[in-house]
Amino acid sequence: MSARTSAARTFRIAPSILSADFARLGEEVAAVERAGIDLLHFDVMDNHYVPNLTIGPMVCASLRPRTKMPIDVHLMVRPVDRIIPDFAKAGADIISFHPEASEHVDRTIALIRECGCKAGLVFNPATPLSWLDHTLDKLDLVLLMSVNPGFGGQQFIASTLPKIAEARRRIDASGRDVWLEVDGGVKADNIAEVARAGADTFVAGSAIFGAKDYAAVVRDMRARLAVV
Ligand code: DX5
Ligand code: ZN
Repeated sequence: MSARTSAARTFRIAPSILSADFARLGEEVAAVERAGIDLLHFDVMDNHYVPNLTIGPMVCASLRPRTKMPIDVHLMVRPVDRIIPDFAKAGADIISFHPEASEHVDRTIALIRECGCKAGLVFNPATPLSWLDHTLDKLDLVLLMSVNPGFGGQQFIASTLPKIAEARRRIDASGRDVWLEVDGGVKADNIAEVARAGADTFVAGSAIFGAKDYAAVVRDMRARLAVV
């Protein structure tokens, strides 16, 4: 199913499989795909850069043949460069990383693109947007964290809203087609507010996988985005 457009912007919903039942991951991915999502958000944590440990390239490779959805890999690991080619080979479409976790941010962006993937830069709640000064012209995605990274099911940090608006201004001024994704605490109740601030791509983990009927949540989110 394709992303929906409201007014001038295309909106995309990206369930985070962090909140899925890992023992039934293939079925969970098929279920959200049937629910009409746009991409799969794949959270990679290393118990070093963030205090949690999740899944790696082998899981990405085993999901790849089971879904047509683009795989949106969010790396919360340090160091980052060594693992990037592994995710590209495992079928990732987008690879995003945190600038604090890379020794050479420009080199890491170049590496992701050389591997044939789209490149994203991730901003923690306290990470300044000045990291975009010399990177935006090479990015396909800006990912703003609206929680501190490491866990699903946290509360949306409201001070992210003006930051989303500022990132939107920077992206529009660049004239480039850069996706603006927001990750953490996004639910049907606040998705419209996040969209109005300027986001176009919405990660939702617990809001979707914590519900009984995934398709009903996705429909509810679409309905609220349709009137933004
Ligand atoms: C947090 C992860 C998020 C998380 C979102 O470090 O990057 O993708 O799974 O989960 P919810 O939507 O439950 O906040
Ligand atoms: Zn994430």
